[in-house]
Amino acid sequence: MKRTHHCAQLTTTDLGATVTLAGWVDSLRDQGGIIFIDLRDRKGITQVKLEPNSNADAGARAAQIKPESVISVTGRVTLRPDGTANPGLPTGDVEVDATTLEILNLSETPPFPLDDAGGDRVNEDLRLTYRYLDLRRPKMRRNLEVRHRATKVVRDYFDAEGFIEVETPILFKSTPEGAREYLVPSRLHPGQFYALSQSPQQFKQILMVAGVERYLQIARCFRDEDLRADRQMEFTQIDVEVSFIDREGIYALFEGMLKKVWKDILNVELPTPFPRLAFHDAMNRFGVDKPDTRFGLELADFTELFRKSTFKVFASTAAGGGAVKALNAKGLADITQGELTGLEEAAKSLGAKGLAFIKVEGGEWKSPIVKFFSEAEKADLTQRLGVADGDIIFFAAAPWEKACAILGRIRLECAALLQKRGKLTIPASQWNFLWVVDFPLMSYDEETKRFVATHHPFTAPVPEDAALLDTEPQKVRGQHYDIVLNGMEIGGGSIRIHQPALQEKVFKDVLKIPADVVENRFGYMLRAFKYGAPPHGGIAFGLDRLVALLCGTTSIRDVIAFPKTQKAQDLMAQSPTPVTAKQLRDLHIQTVMPG
Ligand code: AMO
Ligand code: AMP
Repeated sequence: MKRTHHCAQLTTTDLGATVTLAGWVDSLRDQGGIIFIDLRDRKGITQVKLEPNSNADAGARAAQIKPESVISVTGRVTLRPDGTANPGLPTGDVEVDATTLEILNLSETPPFPLDDAGGDRVNEDLRLTYRYLDLRRPKMRRNLEVRHRATKVVRDYFDAEGFIEVETPILFKSTPEGAREYLVPSRLHPGQFYALSQSPQQFKQILMVAGVERYLQIARCFRDEDLRADRQMEFTQIDVEVSFIDREGIYALFEGMLKKVWKDILNVELPTPFPRLAFHDAMNRFGVDKPDTRFGLELADFTELFRKSTFKVFASTAAGGGAVKALNAKGLADITQGELTGLEEAAKSLGAKGLAFIKVEGGEWKSPIVKFFSEAEKADLTQRLGVADGDIIFFAAAPWEKACAILGRIRLECAALLQKRGKLTIPASQWNFLWVVDFPLMSYDEETKRFVATHHPFTAPVPEDAALLDTEPQKVRGQHYDIVLNGMEIGGGSIRIHQPALQEKVFKDVLKIPADVVENRFGYMLRAFKYGAPPHGGIAFGLDRLVALLCGTTSIRDVIAFPKTQKAQDLMAQSPTPVTAKQLRDLHIQTVMPG
């Protein structure tokens, strides 16, 4: 039964050799008394030929097996007859003329086809229930391999750069200012809880105080978030922290990493340095802080133009300090009523009061609000938006950030509609990396009437803005950077605060966290910083997102071996489940069912 070769190995140089192969039955054909088996292992496929007339024993066994059974065969490598070679397979010139066939395990009929196309057509829940079968599909196996290789390239890169990998605790403590967390009850400390680490942020900073200088971890993180195609409750970060580095140093280090990954995995030379875009410009031009810059359809600002508009909505928005933004969806005047309603609903879901538009058809401007536009306003719109026949222009009038976000969403939806019509191509193999920088350090939360850290409270202010922390915190830019690829945020980080006094001031005076809470949550960090904390900064990449982009899939579930569904369930192992009353008692937990 010991294998002599794998199933992608045999070629004409092996003719005449006696070999043993083992694997899964990919397909089985009975052709006029001769049985052909496509035998598959993780490397590939080899054709096996069996003649029951001359080999009754093996023939009888072959009659029992169904696809996906596990067998082993021994036989001689022979040339396939003229005209029957398969140039699509590395082993396509040969076959194994089996003398023995052993059944290692039979398989029931799989609940869905295990080829790439067949599996893609079935419901994802079925694939996740039978994940062990889904992972047999060539595409899924390839995804796991790309993930392995990308992770290895990353580890090797940082090893060569002098980093060491350090594991930090997964059982951490609750830090409610971040994402919603998973709590873990303590058996030994009744009524107390650990929290699963949302990221190794605090530990990696402590490691800098500990003098590690160059830290790396391929780290599992846990966040109780609503799941989407690009979000899982547990996911993996390429997590890095470096001492004595500035933003430029970080950019260069990570451009180097991405260059190496893209070269080794895709054989693509990425040009560096990557472009940089200030948060404010990203919002103004693309309506989002993670713009897909592979296509135009940029937003333009018409607040000044419409300050004196006779259309009250525009004039009053401008007067109230808001913005009037517009977007020309070039060539989309043939939008259907249903599509238009879809866009309006998308805009309203982001808080829009309406989505004014102008269609330009047959030289005529058509819109419920066209009567409000003066000739001068039309001329300015035409000139700045390049308006031509067949276009449709959308408007959003709202507070600046909201107006940008609304049209940012409309931009993406219009791009999809234009692609569907073949009027826009967004090249899948174009890699538009982008650093988004100069985020505001703080944003004001209307609900709680407090400032909150835009990213996390450890980010250092841009030095020239630091003086504004006391007076106008909203004007302070943070030394934060996000890295964006084709509209997906793949990483983010910052240069940190390393002076204990400044960190304490941010917690207490700016974020207004009560002193006892600061002590309870962050006291150990502030104390650590008093013992010689070096200046430091870092970043974390979403490994799942990075690998998904490398594999050309839009769902990170496709690059995670055992992901959860959108409803946060593991359909294969069937989790979560209730636990016994005794388990709960031991953990000092009582549950209260909703409703
Ligand atoms: P952040 O929260 O931005 O930063 O996370 C870093 C990167 O992790 C990925 N990511 C996710 N991927 C899948 N599912 C999720 N639920 C999920 N959440 C985040 C994203 C994101 O860019 N400690 C900081 C980093 C730092 O400052 O060094 C942090 O965790 O690609
Ligand atoms: P109304 O005068 O409210 O009927 O609005 C006329 C048009 O302007 C409709 O197409 C609305 O969708 C649109 N509209 C209303 N409010 C806004 C707004 N804040 N931003 C953009 N368009 C709007």
